[in-house]
Amino acid sequence: MTPISPEARANVHLIDHPLVQHKLSLMRNKEASTNSFRRLLNELSSLMAYEVTRDMALQDVEIQTPLETMKAKMIDGKKLVFVSILRAGNGILDGVLSVVPGARVGHIGLYRDPKTLQAVEYYFKMPKNMEERDIVVVDPMLATGNSAAAAVARLKECKPKSIKFLCLLTCPEGINTLYKEHPDVQIFTAAIDRELNSHGYILPGLGDAGDRIFGTQ
Ligand code: URA
Repeated sequence: MTPISPEARANVHLIDHPLVQHKLSLMRNKEASTNSFRRLLNELSSLMAYEVTRDMALQDVEIQTPLETMKAKMIDGKKLVFVSILRAGNGILDGVLSVVPGARVGHIGLYRDPKTLQAVEYYFKMPKNMEERDIVVVDPMLATGNSAAAAVARLKECKPKSIKFLCLLTCPEGINTLYKEHPDVQIFTAAIDRELNSHGYILPGLGDAGDRIFGTQ
């Protein structure tokens, strides 16, 4: 078993709320149907969105209550961008957008070149003015960490204000890799599983997240 370095572990926010843990266990069960897997992912993503947005800046906005005028605290959801790593990241979008409906959405698609093993970008579409925005990259599984690290490196070219990484599950290998390449990126996850297998799957994990979300297994 690969140990997680203490510095890397300090970057991980484990979301251990009982509702999150319960729903994750239901998702891990191989008997869960595509329908319930997707519904649970949606619910979990909303719950996790609360944690990942906990430090969002608030501004005072003058509003009129039925009784008087006051300065009320409001967030500017439009400054936040959820970036989905295709394709499984799309399964997280509905849930997080139900909590922050004003957020923008970007998509990044990467595949691994079988010869060079390098991540190759096949799709990249972001909102304008990325230098004004905070990014939350979403992908259900932080496994080897290679595509996450490549996606973050590409996003840094847009010079956003900050980047966080939100996943359902990760493992020591994924945490160490992302930390090594991007020590400034905080990871939010519902579980740190034991290890990666030789095919790059997380154990005990939940299988192929994309296949389970889209019913393509
Ligand atoms: N991607 C998945 O969908 N599942 C894993 O276990 C690892 C990577």
